[in-house]
Amino acid sequence: MISLFRLKQKPLPPLVTDLHSHLLPSLDDGVKTFDESLAILRKFEALGYQKVITTPHINNEYYRNEPAQIESKLKELKELIRQEGISIEVVAAAEYYLDEDLIAKVNSKESLLTFSKNHLLFETNFLTEPYQLKEFIFQLITQGYKPVMAHPERYAYMTLEKASELRDRGVLLQVNIPSMLGLYSKPIQHLAARLIDNQLVDLIGSDCHHLQHVTSLEKAPENKIYRKALELPLLNNTL
Ligand SMILES: [Fe+2]
Repeated sequence: MISLFRLKQKPLPPLVTDLHSHLLPSLDDGVKTFDESLAILRKFEALGYQKVITTPHINNEYYRNEPAQIESKLKELKELIRQEGISIEVVAAAEYYLDEDLIAKVNSKESLLTFSKNHLLFETNFLTEPYQLKEFIFQLITQGYKPVMAHPERYAYMTLEKASELRDRGVLLQVNIPSMLGLYSKPIQHLAARLIDNQLVDLIGSDCHHLQHVTSLEKAPENKIYRKALELPLLNNTL
């Protein structure tokens, strides 16, 4: 049954590309099996998505994933998608954690996993601003990367001023849809809303680790914060 609430809403602009997820089994804390990946991709397809960029964690402590491992899992997943007749394009990049290993890779100009013309997704520790952050951004931009900061709303050190300064330095900010829905915590939801209200958001993503995350997206169109986000000039559909 269609609720009155839904009838009153104006239609949302379509969101066809997701750029942040963990759908390659056993590489990180995301899905454990290909069956799980396929179930999630079927949900994305049903929600109207046409492209999913999946981004396994890479960090020197827990997930020392190499590009070749990621490529090989992607190849297996794509074959299964073909066999299952799922009409969704899946590509892989990575979510790099800003640590000494990453700094060393950037400094030695090692080629990094990116999507859609050199976009590089990175995350930082959740508590304090990394002292190398500004230099890291400068190096990335100098080398022609387009840095995308994952879920700024989840970092305890993040403020609107810092977010604005990062954007001025050339960083694109990607807010998680589950943050808007309140799946992590109230303060995270609140900062997500303020970033959106202040037009400091360039991209939104599912950060899907398991079926529950993608299932939560079904409810997103009824969420005020999500609806506001979709009114921004988001870059998702250009990726
Ligand atoms: Fe992630």
